[in-house]
Amino acid sequence: MAAMPGRALLAKLTALVLGPASADVLPAALHCTSSALAVPSPTPGTEEFTCPPYFHARTCCQLNEMLKIWEKVEDMLQFIVRVLDDQGRDLQAAEEEEAAGLWDDGSACAKYHVQLFSSRLQGSRAAREATAKGLDILQGSTMHLLCAACFQSSSTLKLEQVDNFTKSALLSLQDRMGAIFTEQLLQDVPPDPSCSLAYVTELTAGSLFPAWGRFSPALRTSSTSLLQAFSAWMDRVLSLLVEVPGSLLFQHTMLKLLLFYGERPDSDAFRLLIGQAAPSESQHAPIQADPPNLCPDNTARLFLFVRQAVQASTVSKCYKELQAIQSPLLRWVVTNQSHVTALSDEAALRGQSPKVELIWRRFEVRNLDSFVADVCPGLPAWVADVEAMDCQAGTADTISRLTTAPVEEDLLSSSWPSGLRPARPQPPPVSWPPLLINKYIQAHAALVRQLATGGEPANPKVLVYVCTAMSYCGGHGDRLNGMLSAFVLALLSDRAFFIDSQRPVPLSMVLQPRPGGLDWRMFGSHAALAASFNLNDNLAAFEQNPRSVLESQEQVIRLVSNQRLTAAALHASEQRAESLGLSRQPELHSHLFRMLFAPSPALQARLNARNLPAGRRIGLHFRAGDQMPQNWKDPPRHALSQLDEFLDCAESLEKDYGWEATFILFADTDKVLTMPRVKELMSLGKLVWPSEPDGLVHLDRSPATLTVRGLLQTWADWWTLAFDVDALVLCHSGFGATALEIGHRRPAVVGRGCVPADGSTG
Ligand SMILES: *[C@@H]1O[C@H](CO)[C@@H](O)[C@H](O)[C@H]1NC(C)=O
Ligand SMILES: *[C@@H]1O[C@H](CO)[C@@H](O)[C@H](O)[C@H]1NC(C)=O
Repeated sequence: MAAMPGRALLAKLTALVLGPASADVLPAALHCTSSALAVPSPTPGTEEFTCPPYFHARTCCQLNEMLKIWEKVEDMLQFIVRVLDDQGRDLQAAEEEEAAGLWDDGSACAKYHVQLFSSRLQGSRAAREATAKGLDILQGSTMHLLCAACFQSSSTLKLEQVDNFTKSALLSLQDRMGAIFTEQLLQDVPPDPSCSLAYVTELTAGSLFPAWGRFSPALRTSSTSLLQAFSAWMDRVLSLLVEVPGSLLFQHTMLKLLLFYGERPDSDAFRLLIGQAAPSESQHAPIQADPPNLCPDNTARLFLFVRQAVQASTVSKCYKELQAIQSPLLRWVVTNQSHVTALSDEAALRGQSPKVELIWRRFEVRNLDSFVADVCPGLPAWVADVEAMDCQAGTADTISRLTTAPVEEDLLSSSWPSGLRPARPQPPPVSWPPLLINKYIQAHAALVRQLATGGEPANPKVLVYVCTAMSYCGGHGDRLNGMLSAFVLALLSDRAFFIDSQRPVPLSMVLQPRPGGLDWRMFGSHAALAASFNLNDNLAAFEQNPRSVLESQEQVIRLVSNQRLTAAALHASEQRAESLGLSRQPELHSHLFRMLFAPSPALQARLNARNLPAGRRIGLHFRAGDQMPQNWKDPPRHALSQLDEFLDCAESLEKDYGWEATFILFADTDKVLTMPRVKELMSLGKLVWPSEPDGLVHLDRSPATLTVRGLLQTWADWWTLAFDVDALVLCHSGFGATALEIGHRRPAVVGRGCVPADGSTG
């Protein structure tokens, strides 16, 4: 197709949206076949992509780049077809239900509640019609922009006209979506406070997306490839097309759940959506943890950092070459599970325990020096990047000499093996909160007050982390990493930070702004064509060009990301990070989390009701992955039989620290409860299972209905792992890794191999 991508698709779309009869009156979207310039189609027999005659022949674009872009256009159109198709079916089903009068139960606030439902269906239908028109604009303007980016034009006037037309078409699309959104806000105002529903109230808690961030139609081609620039641009227009109809339908589903759970006051979903916290006798009290000890007796002298991508065989070979070095001198810092396995196997062959020699991290260490200063403070040590090392016969001797009995020549770098150097001493991190962070909080509060009055402030720069009904937000760990990284970006670029997170429920229903901290709540970002960055699953794009975000001149940025951008961002703005006091903070994400979040009343009540046993507690997180196929689809992670290893590991941790502890087990399957060892430990009161089986859900893998059922429990589980246990036994999952990093610093291990884990932000 390459050209006219749309003909067939667009006809299908129009039929979908407006009904089959109107497909004939399809607007002739793109008249550019008459140009002499043509990009041949990759598929023989289909039309070519040609630009209008007012473009000259001189091109500065690669043919296959243009083809790739056009392929992308087609992908996106197909995506919209699918989305509209799904939404159309849902909408129709909902309308039929409504016609049957399902929702009119005759109670006091019934009229208002009926209106919550019916206005959403009407809004969604109206937004669909706007979407259909928007598709033409998307297609036509993409073609135009592409031609304009690639060819010189004979007529600047013509270009300007088309530009103007595109802009005003997009502006009117945004206005239409904005009007539908605003109409919904009006419909949601309850006639009487007694009719209000917590879920609906929270949808508009906090600040409205600022007017000055609304319209930003520009296609930015500087400093990125044309393909990336186009993808980003189409992504944004696409989200303007699908977000409003999608979110109204999504909210409609949530309202149905709300009715359903309204009759089940004992359920977590009732507490969450309807917001009546059960009073509780017990008060949940966080623990005061002991810090981890990853450098017992200050023995370590050499830290070997193994990057994720290094071949496991390279690591094994190096390990063998360095065997002669006394083991307490070395620490291998690894991230990739295959390296853990390879090194554990080698250690086992030597009769060593990997507990002594390995430190596992969820993320690679960026700043080797501050890592060493944090783990083994005050000690002279060496650091090595295993990838840069040349492990061969003799390396071990040199290292032994350097670390235990250096001679005068060893002061010269020429006598150091390649890849190895002394760790540089580090100044201690600034104590938290640094001065400028307090100032930032004050400025943020002033901005929030201004937003409430509608005025435009002197520094209107804002960054909004976004998770909408239609965007991909990822699971628990992904979201926390995405949000906290977004906050780091906001701090580094001096932007006020906000969160517009609506899926499955507004974030403030589980985490509320910390009193005296930032009021980060924002809504309505999805009804605007705002400047945006989408970094989902794309850390590489950010690492390649962190300045595109950090130095963006846009006043308001929407950021969609499930990635941990913190390290790359701190590295890219070193000076600003230093002056803010963010550099070398081993607990940076933990500090930032506590600056932003406190449990909502519903979550607090859930935590209080948990009634954890007193004394030392060791939290175990076990993710089997594929054991609950009725609730989600997830690849297998850990076989059930591996839980034994986790329990052994918890026992050895207990022994190492001389504790008498209770094990608090969290797993994503209640099948663990059938294991004899678990049964026995439970009957002895040694092991506690605080979950309820029907609350086991995966945030990104279960349907919304199930997610809501288990949302409160999932957050409570995470909170307990983060703040209420003295030590952690983890599996490979962002859920546990974020609990380790964000909670108190304390001892932690990876269950498999019982390898010590480090959760500092570095
Ligand atoms: C395009 O819009 C700008 C700003 O509104 C206006 O000044 C200009 O005359 C328009 N150009 C054409 C060719 O219509
Ligand atoms: C982890 O190591 C394996 C084997 O050495 C390798 O194939 C894989 O790509 C590595 N993972 C990452 C994220 O680099």
